[in-house]
Amino acid sequence: MTVHIGAKKGDFAETVLMPGDPYRAKWAAETFLSDARLVNDVRGMLGYTGTWNGHRVSIQGSGMGMPSLSIYANELIRDFDAQTLIRIGSCGGMQPEVKVRDVIIAMTATSVTTPSSTMFKDVNFAPTADWTLLRNAVAAAEAQGIRPHVGGIYSSDTFYDERPDLNEQMVRHGVLGVEMEAAELYTVAARHKRRALAVLTVSDHLQTGEALPSEDRERSFGEMVEIALAAAFA
Ligand code: HPA
Repeated sequence: MTVHIGAKKGDFAETVLMPGDPYRAKWAAETFLSDARLVNDVRGMLGYTGTWNGHRVSIQGSGMGMPSLSIYANELIRDFDAQTLIRIGSCGGMQPEVKVRDVIIAMTATSVTTPSSTMFKDVNFAPTADWTLLRNAVAAAEAQGIRPHVGGIYSSDTFYDERPDLNEQMVRHGVLGVEMEAAELYTVAARHKRRALAVLTVSDHLQTGEALPSEDRERSFGEMVEIALAAAFA
């Protein structure tokens, strides 16, 4: 039992998938896990534990943005012994070759700040994915017939951004997509020597304005869950 997670020690698996949306956690647990049971519903931030191919796995919502994700990642690591944390979420596409519905596997995550920034003082820490998870996820995607984009993403603090010049610099520097959580997940995991990765579906595109129709979201989200599960247990 922690401030934000009303579960007992042992209720969570060592491997935790983290969608931003708690209802996505519910859907993914009911769709992909056997014997899924609800282990957390504090503040409606649903978390489930079940099994996938005989492996124990949890799916816990992170909420939107790095401050919210940071709370759940810290408590899962410190109090529930999470070893592998994989964000499964959506992002905005930033490069012309990155299309809506495509999958991005994030090697690194740039940010202006994260909740961890102040401890680095004048150092720009480079949040980086776990290499083994990243390699496994690329292989799992390719085995599903999906060609993922692999590279850097931008973890923004604002969805309604009043500084489009920041996005312009990201685009210029080859950043593939923008979301709001991965940089802090990678930083917290590094601090505690845990494995982290973000697997993302492109839900909208900053340059073309195209957006994924709601009826396509579930299928695209399902591909991501399968990649994350296969990567965790490869
Ligand atoms: N910006 C930030 N986060 C996002 C976006 C976006 O355009 N799309 C999906 N998550």
